[in-house]
Amino acid sequence: MIRLGVNIDHVATVRQARRAHEPDPVAAAILATLGGADGITIHLREDRRHIQDRDVFLLRDTVTTRLNLEMAAYDEIVAIALKVKPDEATLVPEKRQELTTEGGLDVIANMASVTGAVEQLKGAGIHVSLFIDPEPGQVEASHKVGAHAIEFQTASYSEAKGEAALARELEKLRTAAAHATGIGLHVHMGHGLNYWNVQPIVRIAGVEELNIGHSIVSRAVLVGMERAVREMKQVMQEHYPNPRRA
Ligand code: PXP
Repeated sequence: MIRLGVNIDHVATVRQARRAHEPDPVAAAILATLGGADGITIHLREDRRHIQDRDVFLLRDTVTTRLNLEMAAYDEIVAIALKVKPDEATLVPEKRQELTTEGGLDVIANMASVTGAVEQLKGAGIHVSLFIDPEPGQVEASHKVGAHAIEFQTASYSEAKGEAALARELEKLRTAAAHATGIGLHVHMGHGLNYWNVQPIVRIAGVEELNIGHSIVSRAVLVGMERAVREMKQVMQEHYPNPRRA
């Protein structure tokens, strides 16, 4: 059975929109776990635009499945990871202006910094994954730097327009997955996966884990909206004890 890591960054994005206390990603992680998530994935960005340090430490204490920390190979973030000891660390590229992670990590061009981060994380007993494009050179380089796993970025697949382009991207992922498993790397995939495009991905041989965020949090907002409004109407009509003031 392929593991589902639920990325809850967007829950923190909503909270940070008001610098408020809700919605708390810790609560979202508990509910995602009740729903069957096999792991919780969060990205601690250098600019702290969504997930905060406090979330990382609280999630480490409360996630009972697997905590996957997505991170850039910056010294400050590596130091936090070494303290928190997530079950898994996924190294990603990070640019300040980007809306989300764009493209995979260029392991070939950043061999020295990636090797340093992988060694430190592995030394702390953390399972290390590298978020890369499905390219043979990047797979080889990931193996060379000693990663346990690679996560193929599926953005090119999820953004492909037309049957031919889609088939081409799927084939690229299939070939890259076979290459990676053949040299002993665990294979994960993620980015842009949703309720309509996930099925061909789960059929690729060797895939062990998917990390999905945007589509799940988007659906959660919509499937929860009706109930949230109904409950507000109810509170407006009733004397509802406020537990914060009790
Ligand atoms: N995997 C990685 C490495 C990511 O950076 C992200 C986005 O934070 C995801 C998976 C999840 O992507 P999405 O939010 O598009 O499902």
